[in-house]
Amino acid sequence: MIRYSLTLLLFATIVHSEINNVCRNYIDYFTIQTNPNCWYDVAADKNAPGIITSYGYAVETHKVTGSDGYVSTLFRIINNNGAGRNVPVLLQHGLIASGASFVAIGNKSLGFLLADAGYDVWLGNMRGNQYSEEHLNLSSDNIKYWNYNIDDITFKDLPNQLKYILQKNSQNGKIIYIGHSLGCATALSFGSSYPKEVEKFVKLFILMAPDGGVTHTKSILLRVITPFMGTVVKLFINTEIAKSLSYHSTVNELIRSLCRQNPIFMSLCSNILNFLFTGPQYEMDASISPVVFNQLPDGTSLPVLKQATDHVRLGLSAYDYGLQNVAKYGSLQPPLYNVTKIEVPIFIAYSVGDWAVTEKDSENLYNRLSPQAKIYGKHKIEAKGFNHNDFLYAKTAKTLVYDKIVQLMESVRGV
Ligand SMILES: *[C@@H]1O[C@H](CO)[C@@H](O)[C@H](O)[C@H]1NC(C)=O
Ligand SMILES: *[C@@H]1O[C@H](CO)[C@@H](O)[C@H](O)[C@H]1NC(C)=O
Ligand SMILES: *[C@@H]1O[C@H](CO)[C@@H](O)[C@H](O)[C@H]1NC(C)=O
Repeated sequence: MIRYSLTLLLFATIVHSEINNVCRNYIDYFTIQTNPNCWYDVAADKNAPGIITSYGYAVETHKVTGSDGYVSTLFRIINNNGAGRNVPVLLQHGLIASGASFVAIGNKSLGFLLADAGYDVWLGNMRGNQYSEEHLNLSSDNIKYWNYNIDDITFKDLPNQLKYILQKNSQNGKIIYIGHSLGCATALSFGSSYPKEVEKFVKLFILMAPDGGVTHTKSILLRVITPFMGTVVKLFINTEIAKSLSYHSTVNELIRSLCRQNPIFMSLCSNILNFLFTGPQYEMDASISPVVFNQLPDGTSLPVLKQATDHVRLGLSAYDYGLQNVAKYGSLQPPLYNVTKIEVPIFIAYSVGDWAVTEKDSENLYNRLSPQAKIYGKHKIEAKGFNHNDFLYAKTAKTLVYDKIVQLMESVRGV
């Protein structure tokens, strides 16, 4: 009995040695150390592998080299308790994010739910984020490293990642690809350009808040910076400023630290992000703010940001080189990706509360798909307070989105 109590005491001490870092309400943060509404959340403290292991999974780190020498990291979640069916799933994050966004909300995170359901879960990390700053022979300190766009991620990194995953897991059929936001733009561009090849790799695309062109966006930030990004890239791509969106840039470090500094800044940052980009969040969740700003903004390049904002002007198009389009593409405008060509089934989840990727843009995307791509339909979330980032960070994401996704995945298992 004494031993039992001692063990408990020891356990309690260990638990409490992890200092509170999140609270239920912003006001609670003023007394965070002693307030019973505050606790320790590993996702507000650690990076992707740290979060994965602290939830009792093992993690494997895999490096995949793209055709132009950029090396991206894939994290594979290993569920040691899982009697798995082990269908491979690749989760691909959005703009200025990382694979950590799929393990951000504890045991209700999509990455963990899928691992628990017996899937072989791989978290992608686009080139240039904190986990994927490598290249065969180019240092990320070199400004040349930061001259890449979304098409490079799509056509040079993604195909090799899909091949690699199928090499490592060859017994369990094709990959289910799940994307959020920009992680859908890459899937749609690749699927439109190489429909037959993609069909060999991918069984199903599941696209959450899909960026398939955002001409109806209500995001003020996207609309305001779109006209300037061409000039910004032209002026700065060969200067040190080309690195300014990297994970370790002064600007990004400042945003991440200020936005976790104190409750006033936290709530300010969340509100600014919601107002300028993602859409309103009616259930303002103070406990997720330190998690969000532990993970965002992650690193990317200026041309990636430019191409993403060009989706407002142009829709889902190849990189816009301005006057050089004629030389590159033989036309004044960059070509649009024709999503009707995609043959793999696509399931779309979208929300009426998302300002970045609006209901209208998601429905336009869906309507352009071929009949065979539409067989599993779409899922509209009717909650006005469920915004662009809530697909990853909301407590309600499981009930509003993930349960639906897992249900669909289970239903196509034998297909
Ligand atoms: C998550 O963990 C909590 C606390 O251990 C538990 O009550 C809950 O059922 C778990 N949820 C899921 C989806 O596993
Ligand atoms: C990197 O090095 C390899 C050989 O080591 C070479 O073939 C390749 O062209 C180099 N790539 C770049 C981008 O310099
Ligand atoms: C898009 O692809 C579909 C299917 O191949 C084709 O019918 C349609 O004409 C294409 N649209 C454009 C604008 O090229």
